Amino acid sequence: MHIPTLIAHKRDGGVLAEKEIRWLIEGFVAGDVTEAQMSALAMAVFFRGMTAAETAALTYAMLESGERFRFSGEHPPVVDKHSTGGIGDKVSLILAPLVACCDCWIPMVSGRGLGITGGTLDKLESIPGFRVGLSIEEAQQQLKQIGVAMMGQTEQFCPADKKLYALRDVTGTVPSIPLITASIMSKKLAESLDRLVLDVKYGSGAFMKTRALAEELAAAMKAVGDEMGVQVITQLNPMEEPLGCAVGNALEVVESLATMRGEGPPDLVALVLAQTEAITGVPREKLAGMLQSGEVLEKFNQIVKVQGGDVSALHALAKIQAAPVVRDVLAPTSGAVLRFDAGQIGQAALELGAGRGKASDRIDPRVGFDALIKVGQHLAKGDRIARVHAADEASAARAATALQAALSVG
Ligand code: URA
Repeated sequence: MHIPTLIAHKRDGGVLAEKEIRWLIEGFVAGDVTEAQMSALAMAVFFRGMTAAETAALTYAMLESGERFRFSGEHPPVVDKHSTGGIGDKVSLILAPLVACCDCWIPMVSGRGLGITGGTLDKLESIPGFRVGLSIEEAQQQLKQIGVAMMGQTEQFCPADKKLYALRDVTGTVPSIPLITASIMSKKLAESLDRLVLDVKYGSGAFMKTRALAEELAAAMKAVGDEMGVQVITQLNPMEEPLGCAVGNALEVVESLATMRGEGPPDLVALVLAQTEAITGVPREKLAGMLQSGEVLEKFNQIVKVQGGDVSALHALAKIQAAPVVRDVLAPTSGAVLRFDAGQIGQAALELGAGRGKASDRIDPRVGFDALIKVGQHLAKGDRIARVHAADEASAARAATALQAALSVG
């Protein structure tokens, strides 16, 4: 096999054989396929797409590039959820302990925020001491102990995806349905799941801008799951306004803790319940009762403790991670909120320092927005539409202007 010929075949709309895809991915991880060659292939896939069989072969080759969870003997069902990413999407923080309270195991491997979308790992790291760098062995041990582990991708785990994602990020090849499918599903399949719920987002704050594209992505991921024997449940959800009322790392943990005390915003609670019900089979009324009872918060405290975090810091997180400047943002006109654009709010949060422009950037856990107004609410001119938490006055002022521009009232 000849690497440039395979790239040219895909460039010209050809179909790659399973063994060709496997060989390319093995070669990429080993360093025999160069980054330039893999970038060219990713761009060819971006424009030409892949058949279902090619996407499955790519997923499998990426899965095989590393180790995976192995469960032996009697154990509870192993389940997980994945969201294709959104603004203020903190569902994982609440869902993971809730699922563990339902006698399921959840080995949650999450990502960092990139672009305008936030990442579970960055949010967890706003808790002092919290360690996301677990090995597979440690995570397996933790599952036996408390039923849940929340960790990042390591060198052990789908190294092909880690390398390819970094290239895609800098070559404009992230929003490709076969590449997203293989990236997400290889990591999820490496968790050796029985059931997976996929929250596929569409709208201004999501990778997929239209429902039709989200449907296509959902079908591609389900097809790979079916082929590999994992029950995949897809749920399509709009991402036109932020989820809940907080965007930003520590601010989202604070909102998640309130939700685990039964005081969450209705849109966030509804998604947590729908996704948890889909993977555990426990009815949402019962799950809602578990959020009220405090047992989910107790499970989250266990996760924090076992993973090296400071449990005593949780109730004081808003103070520990207080931003130097906190300002109200006011409505410029009166009327009903028609739109509070997730994409624009995500961009404003990114510019405050809550997200990354590139993978090596450092985030500021303190900054972002809370008290965000929701679509459908009525405003009088001068009412608060959000609170901005910023590192300095100048960035607070820029963010306030951006939030006002993101708001449509009528
Ligand atoms: N999340 C992933 O893990 N991979 C992608 O390609 C896109 C979102």
